[in-house]
Amino acid sequence: MSDSMATSRRDFIRFTAAGLALGSPLNTLAAGSAAPSASLAPIRAPELLIRRAVSPLVISDYSGFEFRNGGTENAVEHAFRRITAGDDVLDALIGGVNIPELDPTENGIGYGALANADGVIQLDASCMHGPKRRAGAVACLEGVRTPSLVARAVMDYTDHHLLVGEGAQEFARAMGFTIEDDLNTESSRKLWREWKRRVDPAHWLSPDGGERTIKPRHERDPGNDAGLEAGLSMVRDGLIREGSFWGTINCNGITPSGDIAGVTTTSGLAWKIPGRAGDSPILGAGLYVDNDVGAAGSTGRGEANLYNLSSFLIVESLRRGMHPKDAGLEALKRIRANTVESRLLNDRGEPNFNVRFFVIDKQGRHAGVAMYHSGETKFALCTENGASAPELEPLLQGDPQ
Ligand code: GLY
Repeated sequence: MSDSMATSRRDFIRFTAAGLALGSPLNTLAAGSAAPSASLAPIRAPELLIRRAVSPLVISDYSGFEFRNGGTENAVEHAFRRITAGDDVLDALIGGVNIPELDPTENGIGYGALANADGVIQLDASCMHGPKRRAGAVACLEGVRTPSLVARAVMDYTDHHLLVGEGAQEFARAMGFTIEDDLNTESSRKLWREWKRRVDPAHWLSPDGGERTIKPRHERDPGNDAGLEAGLSMVRDGLIREGSFWGTINCNGITPSGDIAGVTTTSGLAWKIPGRAGDSPILGAGLYVDNDVGAAGSTGRGEANLYNLSSFLIVESLRRGMHPKDAGLEALKRIRANTVESRLLNDRGEPNFNVRFFVIDKQGRHAGVAMYHSGETKFALCTENGASAPELEPLLQGDPQ
């Protein structure tokens, strides 16, 4: 069977032509009339089937599959439903990531996320609208549950691409966002106190008088700082998910007509130095979109993406014709090559952290890749076949540590 014979109705976008002006050339053509009718009888709106450019899809890290905030849809299902209903591609994706941002049980993103070293939740987010060639971002934003929407407002209402700290919060206030004193939940506050106890066990005691759960300083690897080691010990002890330690959602989508957008939103590294901005709000690091080429975004150790501008690197590899999987693996190889400090290497001489990329190209091909198939090993996808959680393709075998 030839390709053209195999073409099905799924290869078309259905347009209801009710909104088309009667007597317009398109309406006349679609109705099959030789000439506009003189009759006053209502003309039935024709159905137009237009060949679509690409199979639509939405891709994200696993949090886009896992969290529903008590509702029926996860982030990728929500965004896919809306992009296929004709909503603006970026509005649909941001609507998707608002689900984990608002979900108090997701402690790497938005409301109830893991705090900084002072116990304050500081959020980073960016978004890029492919067709409009516009972008916006916020960093170190406090008090707003949905930083992705503030990033979108920066894009829509300012000439700037990035607002930070108090300036970002004042902008959000001016745009009508609710500013809360504290985005912590009881759970995120408790986890911060546990981290303080592990970092400074001489002063922060366990309420139940329990044993210290971190090694005394003289027994620790002098290359590890106590804050990071305490956080990682909480991952090892199952108190927080590995995915929440650098907890982030990146979500990218392509519409049936081939328009592309992306959004990344996060609380960044758990218990970071106050004021630390990661890769998520930096265009080219934690997110990059080119409507003619594709999109890439990331979760994991943000400093690796800041150093290597990984998302931009991936989109440029797509531009040279690479498949999304190869482009993602190429960026992971660059990170591996540039990771030379001993504090960042495991005893195999490889990076001791994970980084994941979620990539789509203009043809609607996609990939989820990771430095290691470890911790969160799946990503989220939604296509016409529904939502699924395929395995990430790793560059290296084993675990980061
Ligand atoms: N990738 C999230 C962060 O490092 O902030």
